[in-house]
Amino acid sequence: MLVIRAKNYEELSRKAAKYIANQVELKPNSVLGLATGSTPVGTYKELIRYCQEEGLSFRKIRTVNLDEYYGLRPDHEQSYRHFMDHNLFDHIDILKENTHVPDGLTQDPCAFGEAYDEMISVLGGIDLQLLGIGSNGHIAFNEPNQHFVAPTHLVKLSENTLEDNARFFDSIDEVPPQAITMGMRSIMRARRILILASGVNKAEAVKGMLEGEIDPMLPASILQLHPDVVLIADNEALSLCALE
Ligand code: GLP
Repeated sequence: MLVIRAKNYEELSRKAAKYIANQVELKPNSVLGLATGSTPVGTYKELIRYCQEEGLSFRKIRTVNLDEYYGLRPDHEQSYRHFMDHNLFDHIDILKENTHVPDGLTQDPCAFGEAYDEMISVLGGIDLQLLGIGSNGHIAFNEPNQHFVAPTHLVKLSENTLEDNARFFDSIDEVPPQAITMGMRSIMRARRILILASGVNKAEAVKGMLEGEIDPMLPASILQLHPDVVLIADNEALSLCALE
C-alpha cells in the first residue's frame, strides 16, 4: 500500500480529488466506486470545482456506491442517495441514470445483493474505488466479523458505528440499525483503490490496517492483499504509525 501523508484535511482533500480527477481525465468512461461519510466531502467539493471551473467532465462516468442505510427512503436527508446527490451529483455533469446507490428499501436483500454485484460486473468492474475507514476499521459497512463477507449483503451495524454515525441524526435511536453494503468481493476486484483517513479517531484503525495481521475483526486489513491501494491520510490519522 502506498501511503501519502497530508498535513491536514484540506490537503488530503486536494490530493484525493487530484487522484480521482486524473482517473476521470485518462479514462472518461471510468466506473468509479464512491463512498459517503464526512471524510470524502472535501474531496467531492474539490471535484465539483474541477468540473465547474476546469472543464473536467463526468458525462461518461458511471458510479456505484458502497452502501445505504436499510429502511431509509432515497429522499430521506440522511440516506446515502441524498448525500451523493447533495454533495456531488447535483453539481457535476454526470448523468443521474449512470449513478447507482444500493436500494435501502429492497424487500429481498439477498437477491438485491446478487443483482448489485452482477450490475458492477456488467459495467466492466470498478476502475477506481474510493473508501473511507470507520474508527473500528470497517470499510463500506463491512463491520468487524468472524470472517470477510464476499457479496453485497445486509449487515447489522455495530454499536461503535451507531455511536459514530449518531452525529448525523437527532439521536442514536434514529440511526438505522442495518445497512446494505457492498461486500469484499466487489471492493477487492476494483482495479485501483483510494482510501482516505483523517483525524486522530482513525489512528488506531489506520495502524491496524497498515501494520496488523489480516483479520476480519479489522476489515480494512484485507486491503493489504490488493495490488494497487493508495492511502491518503493526514498527520493525525497517521500519528500511531511507524512510517519513516
Ligand atoms: C460510514 C460509511 C463508510 C465510511 C465510514 C467513515 O459509516 N459507511 O463508508 O467510510 O463510516 O465515516 P467518516 O468519514 O464520517 O468518518
